[in-house]
Amino acid sequence: MLIIDIISAVPELLVSPFNHSIMKRAKDRSLLEVNVISLRDYGIGKHKQIDDYQYGGGAGMVMMPEPLDRCIMDRKSKRSYDHIIFLTPDGHTYNQKWANRLSLSRELLLICGHYKGIDERIRQKHVTLEISIGDYVLSGGELAAAVIVDSLGRLIPGVLNDESSALSDSFQDQLLSPPVYTRPAEYDGMKVPEVLLSGNDAWIDKWRDEQAYIKTRQRRPDLLNDQTE
Ligand code: 6GU
Repeated sequence: MLIIDIISAVPELLVSPFNHSIMKRAKDRSLLEVNVISLRDYGIGKHKQIDDYQYGGGAGMVMMPEPLDRCIMDRKSKRSYDHIIFLTPDGHTYNQKWANRLSLSRELLLICGHYKGIDERIRQKHVTLEISIGDYVLSGGELAAAVIVDSLGRLIPGVLNDESSALSDSFQDQLLSPPVYTRPAEYDGMKVPEVLLSGNDAWIDKWRDEQAYIKTRQRRPDLLNDQTE
């Protein structure tokens, strides 16, 4: 069982992504638990304030330390997190290796940033890992959190029906996936490659390996030279 808690100023954004398909199955099978915590509940004063102007001036609000600190302390009293992850464009770039590593966790806390970010002291006090999902800017960490939860959920043993399925994903062996086909054998004049109809598993495996290599060489030659881990 993997438990993922997500702290968000806009929890509404995180309702739908986990209630369909594979994520739903993971939750129904008690293999994954996702809890969304509203930061607003920890806001200050009558208006439940959670952000403020930044010292030194400049455009954009900063998420205040106190609401986040109280929220995180509250969660920490209930769990022992493997990682407290702040989602931010200046974090480690997320990839399948990070997904594989984090999927071995038992309890994770994800913090979604908004505005110009969070007060640096929260990063110092609580955050153990910072992750970005790519070199572009999102208006908040929520969609990044959804991406990470999805990628982790499908790696939990028992979530996918075909146990080997996650292992044959693109990236899992540093290659992109080969083309796939379903019925009919001929569609609009285009035929399914003969070898896939042959029933010969060895030929089929060999063809898929070749196709994966050809596609990777064409589209992502960088993956073929990637020596990291
Ligand atoms: Cl994790 N957050 C935001 N706000 N933007 C991003 C990101 C995260 N990853 C890529 N862009």
